[in-house]
Amino acid sequence: MVYLSLLISYLIGSVSFSYLIAKKIAGIDIRSHGSGNAGATNTLRVLGKGPAITVLVLDALKGLAAMGLTHLLTDGNALAYALSGLFAIIGHNWPVFFGFRGGKGIATTVGVAFGFSPLAFLISGIITIIVIAITRYVSLGSLVLVTMLPIFLYVFAKEPAFIWVSTVLAIFAYIRHYSNIRNLLSGKERRLGESAQRPF
Ligand code: G3P
Repeated sequence: MVYLSLLISYLIGSVSFSYLIAKKIAGIDIRSHGSGNAGATNTLRVLGKGPAITVLVLDALKGLAAMGLTHLLTDGNALAYALSGLFAIIGHNWPVFFGFRGGKGIATTVGVAFGFSPLAFLISGIITIIVIAITRYVSLGSLVLVTMLPIFLYVFAKEPAFIWVSTVLAIFAYIRHYSNIRNLLSGKERRLGESAQRPF
C-alpha cells in the first residue's frame, strides 16, 4: 500500500494547475512566458492575482490531498505520510503529464508543511511573508521557507520522518531555484510586481 500511495501522490502532484489555468484562460503555455516556471509566482507575473491565488491554493491542496490519502491507505504510517508529501512535490516539479517540465515546488510545499505541523507552518510562513514584504523577492522568501521548515519541525513536531523529509524537500527547492539564486547574487532577480516583459 505504501508504494501505491507514493505513486498516487506523484500523480496528484503531476497535475500542473498553472499550466492548465494558463491554457484555459489565456490559451498560452505558462512555461513559455515570464520565468518559464509552471508555478504561482510566474502565474502572478503573467496572468495576475486571481489566477495566481487559484494556482497557489490548488497546488498547496495537492500536497495535502496526497498526504491525506496516504494517511488513509497506510494506517497513519508517519514515514509514508511524509514521503507522500515529497512525492507530490516531485510530481509538481517533474510532472509525468506535462513532459516532466513543472514548477519549483513551493506552493505544494506550503500544503505539505501544513500537513506536517500547522504551528511550524504558521511560524515559517510568517517569516517568509516578512522576507517577501521587505525584499519583494518571492524566490528568496521561498528559500527561507524551506530552510526554516526542518528547524521548526524539529522544535514543534518532533517526528523524525517529517524533519528528514523536509530537509530533502529543501534540497530539491534549492536545486530548482538555481537560476533564481544566480539572479539574486547578480542583482538580476525579478521583484514582486515587476513586469514579465523584461527579458528573462
Ligand atoms: O515558487 C517559485 C518562486 O520561488 C520563484 O518563481 O517564477 O520567479 O522563478 P519564479
